[in-house]
Order: sequence, then C-alpha cells, then structure tokens
Amino acid sequence: MMQPRLQLDDPHAFLGWLAAAREAGRASFDDVHVAQVFAIAAVAAIARRGSRMKFELEPAAATGAGRFAHAIGIDEAISGAGGRAPAERDRTVTLTRVRGRGPWESVSEQIVSLLLPTKPWVPAADLFYHVLVELLRNVGQHSNDPLGGIVAAQVNDAGPYAGAPALQVVVADNGIGVFEALRHMRPSIKTPAEALVRALEPHVSGAFPEGESGSGENAGLGLFVISEVAKETDGRLFLASRGATYFLDRSVSPDTQPVITNGEAPDYPGTLVVFETAMAHVGSYEGIMKHIRDLAAERTPKRITYRWLRFEEPPTDSLRVLVAVASEDTGAAMTFATTVIKPRLLRHESIALDFRTMRVCTQSFLHALLHESVRLAWALKVPMFVVNATPAVQAQLELVEGYSLGG
Ligand SMILES: Nc1ncnc2c1ncn2[C@@H]1O[C@H](COP(=O)(O)OP(=O)(O)OP(=O)(O)O)[C@@H](O)[C@H]1O
Ligand SMILES: [Mg+2]
Repeated sequence: MMQPRLQLDDPHAFLGWLAAAREAGRASFDDVHVAQVFAIAAVAAIARRGSRMKFELEPAAATGAGRFAHAIGIDEAISGAGGRAPAERDRTVTLTRVRGRGPWESVSEQIVSLLLPTKPWVPAADLFYHVLVELLRNVGQHSNDPLGGIVAAQVNDAGPYAGAPALQVVVADNGIGVFEALRHMRPSIKTPAEALVRALEPHVSGAFPEGESGSGENAGLGLFVISEVAKETDGRLFLASRGATYFLDRSVSPDTQPVITNGEAPDYPGTLVVFETAMAHVGSYEGIMKHIRDLAAERTPKRITYRWLRFEEPPTDSLRVLVAVASEDTGAAMTFATTVIKPRLLRHESIALDFRTMRVCTQSFLHALLHESVRLAWALKVPMFVVNATPAVQAQLELVEGYSLGG
C-alpha cells in the first residue's frame, strides 16, 4: 500500500496523488499515512454530493489520515448534512460549506473564535479573520461554483510543526478557476499561470478592466494583501487553480521565490488556496497593514497629495454615522455609500464616519464603502472625517484614499 504524507511543504505531492485518484474517479485516505487539513478540504470539495465532478471518496479508518478526515467532518461536508461540533477546540475546526453571499463574516468569526478562543484578539486572530473573509468572498464573487466553497482551518503543532505551531487556512471550490474569472477583463493574460501571478498584484481583478483601480465592489486587493501577509510573516501561500499552481514558501528563507507550474503539472479542478503562517512570526496586525499601505502607495502614482479623509475631530455640524451597519457586507456598504455618504457630499455637507465597532476591516469592505466617495470628496472639495479608527483600520483607509485618488 502506498503511504504518502500529504504535507504543505510539498503540496505538489498532494496534487499528484489527487490526479491519480481523479483518473480513477475515487480515492481513499487508506492510501495515505498523514494528511494535513488542506488536503482533506480539497478532496472534500470535489467529492461533494451534487458536484459536477464524478468523484467518490471511500470511507477510510485504517490510517491516521482517514481517522483525521472523519474527525473533522469530511462525511458531513460531502453529504451536505449539518455541521458538527469542532473536533478539537483550539486546534482544528470542522470542514464548513460556505455558499452564497451572506455568511462570510459570521463563518469567519466563528472559526476564529473556535480556533483561538483563549486569546481572542491577538494579532493572529485579526489577520486570520481578514484572510478568511477575503478568501470566502472570492469564492462567492468569482468562482461560479453553485455549491460554494469548503473552508477549514487548523493550528498545527504536530510533526514538522512540533514546537513551532502554524496557523493554516484552506478554502477550496470547484468553480471556473482564476484564469477564466480574469481573462475577459484582462485579455493580455494568456495562460493560467500568468493569471495566478497577476491575481496577486494590487488592483488586478476580473471585476474591472486594466488601468482602473476598482469597480464598485472590488479593488483587486484581496489576494495581494494575503500574499503580502504570507511574505511578511515568513509563511506559505499555495494556490492551485485550473491549469496552474503557485507556491510561495517563505518558511525556508525570506528570499525564496515562488514555484509556478503551468499545464505541465497536476492542477486542481477549481480553486484551492492554502495560507499558512507560523504563530510566532505574526507581528501586529497594525504593523502589517501599515507596511502594505506603504507598499501599495509606492506602486500608485499620486495625482494629489491633499488628504480628503481627515483623521481629526469633525466640525460640530457634521453628521456622525456609525460604520457598523454594513460590516463586511460589500453590497450593504455600497448601498450605505449611495444612500448616506454621497448625497451628503453632493450637498457639500460634512460627514464623520465613526469606526468604533470595526476592529478589523478588509480592503474589499472599505473599498465598497469609500472608493467612489473619496473621489467625489476630492472632486467637490468636501473632506470626510474619520473618528475612532484603530491604527490598522486607519492604515487601510489611507490605502483606499491613496489608490482612489492615485494615477
Ligand atoms: N475562488 C476564485 N475563483 C475564481 N477566480 C478567483 C477566485 N479568487 C480570486 N479569483 C480571481 O482573482 C482576482 C483577484 O482576486 P482578489 O481577491 O485579489 O481581487 P477581487 O476579489 O477582484 O477584489 P477585492 O478582493 O479587492 O474585492 C479576482 O478578481 C478573480 O478574477
Ligand atoms: Mg477578493
């Protein structure tokens, strides 16, 4: 019997194993000695009942991998039966199906609180939440998979991680893949590998054409921020998406370059994203977000230097609005911008946005809320005031302003 170990230090070994299994139309974890959570989630996604893939996962109990897959709820993930209690609090959360637009934030919040319950708001928790929301949103917005995606996460301190626990996040779907999602707006992209590399750059998105810095809902920054976080924390990022794979392993050395395959190596029938970071390497969320703001600012030529987002006490006649209504729901953020912020700016009336309840904001959310309003504020010369933003949120607001007015 074959006894591979499917570990994230060699994700291509997993795709090789999966290719043979897909060819046979079935797999069993009885062939596998040890499998990390990313491999189990990736298999679960293609074995889902109702999936377009013809793929059967046979029950397995003879190996550690089979027992682990069962313990973290692979059977329910495949059948679509309701979720079950987390297998091991503090270590692993069960596989969760996420479909549609609604639950990105609540699912992410729940996963973070199950996995890091004892220290709920350490930097790792904020980063982890941010990464989860961006990846789940991508499945909902871009994958076209009617079944949605499967998300799983783990604090891994076994085997190679003994003594240096790592946080691992995996999101898998069986949708159209990154190349297909991007190519219509970016005809210059000719191959799946090129699409993966470009998708990690700032302001590259299938939602708006080249030369623009955002559509209403997307800024093309989700994967850029995630890959910068992986680099900043000496982590790993693995993407496999129809026709290509991208693997950046900064755990080995800070200079390691990504390994990219195109067509010649086994791929994933959909999009698989695995993010890993050593818990000990996660600095402050604020520090990482400021670094990313500076990095993005370097790449965005500035049209003007005057700031239309003011981080100071607003005039007394300002309308104060609490930014919480639309927390992490980009559709609601756009509605809020259209119905509350823009009419106020158009009347040249002062508005103050109060971020007191938002400790973590993703770029996508702030973009949907403010990209167009910042441009309007600039055009009409009406500043917007921001109060009670944490330093991390302020850094991200400055990033939105930078690119909204840049170029
Ligand atoms: N799961 C996925 N399936 C298919 N395509 C994807 C998936 N995830 C990302 N992509 C493609 O990669 C592009 C870049 O993703 P990224 O998250 O960086 O930006 P975005 O989602 O367009 O904008 P933002 O995240 O700022 O809202 C997407 O526009 C989409 O074309
Ligand atoms: Mg995105």
